Amino acid sequence: MSRLGWDRPERSPAPVCGNVPLAPCAVAFVRVTAEPIESFPDAVVLRWRGPLDDGEMVDLVSSHGGTPVPGWWDEIRPHSLGWVTARIGDGTVVGFVNVVSDGGDHAFLVDTKTRGTHQRRKVATRVVNFAAKHAKAAGCEWLHVDFEPDLRSFYFDACGFQRTDAGLIHLPSLPV
Ligand SMILES: CC(C)(COP(=O)(O)OP(=O)(O)OC[C@H]1O[C@@H](n2cnc3c(N)ncnc32)[C@H](O)[C@@H]1OP(=O)(O)O)[C@@H](O)C(=O)NCCC(=O)NCCS
Repeated sequence: MSRLGWDRPERSPAPVCGNVPLAPCAVAFVRVTAEPIESFPDAVVLRWRGPLDDGEMVDLVSSHGGTPVPGWWDEIRPHSLGWVTARIGDGTVVGFVNVVSDGGDHAFLVDTKTRGTHQRRKVATRVVNFAAKHAKAAGCEWLHVDFEPDLRSFYFDACGFQRTDAGLIHLPSLPV
């Protein structure tokens, strides 16, 4: 799979001309695409890499009882493969997730957030699903996530992640 969103149709039989298999350079490639915007009947609109300023991020984090760090999103954004915003009709951001990548097959989902007033309305489920489609369209093969145990039902059941072994090191705890 190429890194730039071009992909060979995986289930197609090998191309032939008469009985002669075509050389690999003759294989047809199709563009793997994903729409950058998706709208829902409840007026939630999802965007991939849509506008999102640092003040909106601060407001979103405050809304769900988190501790916002002004400047955080401005610092993080240049390292992102892409992010999803969910906005309602008046433009308010009600959902967000960020996707980072190793530049190859692996993408990592981080910082899923839903506005406090809009939780348990499947906003985050839609946001994560949309992020997964775009990570695939960008050429990634695997989407990773880690989370606290109380969110197992969200990531496994609602979003469809499979259980896997994974590991984590808290780097500041390493002896220098
Ligand atoms: C976790 C979070 C993103 C979920 O957002 P959401 O939009 O409310 O999630 P959804 O409505 O799509 O949830 C779908 C399902 O996942 C499960 N789920 C969602 N939030 C849950 C929670 N806090 N605890 C347990 N299960 C949860 C439920 O089964 C839910 O379906 P239900 O409402 O019919 O019971 C949101 O609670 C949030 O922003 N929390 C604060 C930030 C945070 O902790 N982020 C996670 C970083 S890993």
